[in-house]
Order: sequence, then C-alpha cells, then structure tokens
Amino acid sequence: MQFTKKDILDMESLSVEEINLILDTADRMKEISIRPIKKVPTLRGKTVILFFYEPSTRTRISFDIAAKRLSADSLSISKASSSIVKGETLADTARNLEAMKPDIIVLRHSSAGTPHMLARLVKSSVINAGDGMHAHPTQALLDLMTVREKKGKISGLHISIIGDISHSRVARSNIIGFTKMGAKVLLAGPPTMIPKDVESLGASVTYNVDEAICDADVIMMLRIQKERQKSFLFSTEREYSKVYGLTKERAKNARSDVLIMHPGPVNRGVEIAYEVVDGPHSIILDQVTNGVAVRMALLYLVSGGVRNADAD
Ligand code: CP
Repeated sequence: MQFTKKDILDMESLSVEEINLILDTADRMKEISIRPIKKVPTLRGKTVILFFYEPSTRTRISFDIAAKRLSADSLSISKASSSIVKGETLADTARNLEAMKPDIIVLRHSSAGTPHMLARLVKSSVINAGDGMHAHPTQALLDLMTVREKKGKISGLHISIIGDISHSRVARSNIIGFTKMGAKVLLAGPPTMIPKDVESLGASVTYNVDEAICDADVIMMLRIQKERQKSFLFSTEREYSKVYGLTKERAKNARSDVLIMHPGPVNRGVEIAYEVVDGPHSIILDQVTNGVAVRMALLYLVSGGVRNADAD
C-alpha cells in the first residue's frame, strides 16, 4: 500500500489500512534504534522544522532523534525564540518558514486546529505534535504500537482510559485510534472531567474507577492538566488520588496480565502511585521508546516512503 497523505493532523483522517501501514513501518524502524550505528541515509537532504509553542520533552526530543536517525536535518524553534514574541502572526511565521523550503514542519500549539491551518498554508508536510485539547495523533499511534507489540493484537481488547478526559488531546486521539482498530474503550474519572458528548466517539463511560480497572487489558492513566483547568475540578490532590488514582491497592484488583500506560509527564502520587509507575505492569518507558520508531515511520511515510528502510 502506498501512503499518500501529505500531513498527519488527527486520527480521524487516518484509515485502518494507513494506521496498520504506519505501525508496520514503525516496527521496522525500531530495529534501527538498536543497531550499534543508529543511522540510515533514508531522509538525507530533507529538512525537518520542529516548531513547539508549548513545552515538551518526549514529543520534541523523539521527533528530533527520529529525524537524525533517518539522516534528515532537523532544527527546533520555540515560541520564545521566534519572532512571534515581536508580534508576528503564526500565518506569517509559517509563510517565512515555507520560504526556506523545509520538507516537514512538526507543530505543537496551545490552540486547537493550528496544524490544520498550517497544512492549508504551506506545501511542506505538517505533523501535529499536539494542538490544544484537540488531538495528539503521534501519541495515539505510539500507544497503538506499544499495545500491539505487547498483546499481539488490538482488536477485541478492553482499554480503560482514566482521569482528566476533558482536557486531554491524548484521550481524544486514543479513543478514536483504539475504537477504529476494534478495541473497546471505557472512560473513567470525575464527572467534572468527562465531557458529556464523549460517547459519540464510540467510548463507554463510568464514574467508578474500580469498575474500569477490574476487566481492563490496558489501563491508561492521564495527568491532571492543571494548566488547562479554568476552575478547580476536584478538592485536593490527596482526595483525587484516593478516589480516582491508580493506587497500589487498586492496581492489585487489575488482571494479572494488565498493561499500565501513561503518556507522560506523570504526576507521581496523584493520578498514579510511585510503585505502580515503576511496577512490573508499567510499559510507560516502552511507550517512549516506541515514540521514536513511530515518528521515524511518519517522517519516512510523509516524505513519500520512496526508499525501503530495510535496504539502507
Ligand atoms: N506525551 C507527551 O506529549 O509528552 P511531552 O509533552 O513531554 O511531549
């Protein structure tokens, strides 16, 4: 199958076949990262701009590593180091970046829809690295890859996503991604943190976290996004942890083969206990490892995928 998408903007616009192609390509890319020389010439001569308006550790660094492992030239700019601080609009910044002929622009922005706007403005490929509370497709793809790798399948699995669903672009993208690939998604958390219409995305809802834990093949905990909450949606962190957090005691009621995930950054002791983050069921760092492979696959595929990574 030929990958024909110019941009990666959200999970809605990827078909099951395209998702499978991305995951299969990421599986092959992962092998490059365990070679003594972690570099292939696949994207030599390509330029990747990493434009991050919001802080990031995992996404920015893994895109940078992914580009470098494929021999692309990558460079990073942040809001603070760009002329945005002098009053230039995003559209004008984009036009100026485009004038320097980059091949791919990776954008993280605090406003929903900005990568879509950028994709309409520029000829370069645009990859959404997280836009406001809307979408984080590369996170969902690395989560799908990690679950498929650990469980050997996605279809038919029970995925529980627990926490601050309302403010989470990761939750939105994962609900769409996992349901599209045939999994059943159950959302749990405080009523103040679960949007009313979320079932229209294909997920079920419970306000009882214990219910979401006992039957799950995969438990994905989400961070309390204090920076996005306009008012207090819970009393204290201690209370939140007790009622909605994945405590050590609560984790004992999970299936013996459960996978515990978190997109990061983790608030240890709030949504998830210290011991659970570091425990035997946690695959949180596997997610980070696979983030590099998925982003290598995406950079390769939006570039036309003209060379076979295996052949390099
Ligand atoms: N999961 C994630 O997007 O992490 P960063 O904000 O560190 O990129």
